[in-house]
Amino acid sequence: MSALLPHRRALVTGASSGIGAATARRLAVAGYRVALLARRQEALEEVRASLHGTGHLVLAADLTDTSQVARALEGLASAWGGGLELLVNNAGMGYRARVEELEEATLRQVFETNVLAPLLLARDALPLLRQGDSPVVVNVASVVGRRGIPGQSAYAASKAAMCSMGEALRIEWAEEDIAVCTLCPALTATGFFDAQPNPSGLEDPDLSSADPAESVAEEVLALSYEPHPERTLRWKWRLLGALTPFAPRLADRLLVRRLGGGWTVPRR
Ligand SMILES: NC(=O)c1ccc[n+]([C@@H]2O[C@H](COP(=O)([O-])OP(=O)(O)OC[C@H]3O[C@@H](n4cnc5c(N)ncnc54)[C@H](OP(=O)(O)O)[C@@H]3O)[C@@H](O)[C@H]2O)c1
Repeated sequence: MSALLPHRRALVTGASSGIGAATARRLAVAGYRVALLARRQEALEEVRASLHGTGHLVLAADLTDTSQVARALEGLASAWGGGLELLVNNAGMGYRARVEELEEATLRQVFETNVLAPLLLARDALPLLRQGDSPVVVNVASVVGRRGIPGQSAYAASKAAMCSMGEALRIEWAEEDIAVCTLCPALTATGFFDAQPNPSGLEDPDLSSADPAESVAEEVLALSYEPHPERTLRWKWRLLGALTPFAPRLADRLLVRRLGGGWTVPRR
C-alpha cells in the first residue's frame, strides 16, 4: 500500500476543503500527481501548497457550468499530455430541510451539483481515462444514498442517484477495463454542515463521533489500488441499507431510534 505511484494522475473534485482536500494530500503522498478542482481558487492554491511532491494542478471551475468544466479538462490534458488514472467525483452539497420547506432553486442546485455534474464529468473525462493506465473512478456518495433519512430528502435522493450511476457505469465501462467504485462515507468531520442550506435550522448531527476526513481519503487511495464496486464506511448503515427493501418497518424503527431529533415511527 505504501508503494509510490509516480506516473499516476488523479483529478479530485471538491478539493478545496474537507474530504477532497484530505484525499488530494493522501494521493500526493502516495506519489500521485493531483489536479484539484473546485470553485474557490484561493483555497485550492492553499491545498496545492500543502501537497507532497510537484506537478499538481489547480483547476478553478464550477462543476455545474459545462463550459468551465470543458476548460478545466483542456487545461489538465495540456499540462499532463492527456491520460488520467483516477477520477474522484467528490464535490457535493447538502440540503437540510423538511419537504414542505424545499425551495425549488436550491433543490435544482443540489441535483445539478450532486447528480448531473458527476455524470457529465464522467462523460467528459472518459477520453482521458481511456488513455490512462488501469483507470479507476471513485464516486463519493453517502450512507444516506442507500437509506433515505428525514430532513434530508433531496440530499439523500441525490446520493441514491449517485449509487445508481455507479452501478450502471461499472458495467458500461467494464469492456474498457475502467473500474468504477462507489464510496459511501458516514458522518465525517468537515465544513459540510456549515456550508449546507438549512432554512429552519434543523438540528445538525453531533460530530464528536464523526470520522476524520483523512480516514475517507485513505479509503479512496485503497480503492485506487484495489477497486471494489461499493464500500460503506459504517457497517450499521450498510446493514440498514440492505434491510430496508426487505423489512422497511423494522428499518424505519431502527433509524428513528438512532437519529433522535424527535422524528416519529410511521404508524402505517
Ligand atoms: N461530511 C460528511 O458527513 C459526508 C458524509 C457522506 C458523504 N459526504 C460527501 O463527501 C463529499 C465531500 O464533502 P465534504 O464533507 O468534504 O464537504 P465540504 O468540505 O463542504 O466539501 C465540498 C466540496 O465540494 C466543492 N463544490 C461544491 N459545489 C461545487 C461546484 N458547483 N463546483 C465545484 N466544486 C464544488 C466545494 O468547493 P468550492 O466551494 O470551492 O466550490 C468543496 O470543496 C460530498 O459529496 C458529500 O456529499 C460527506
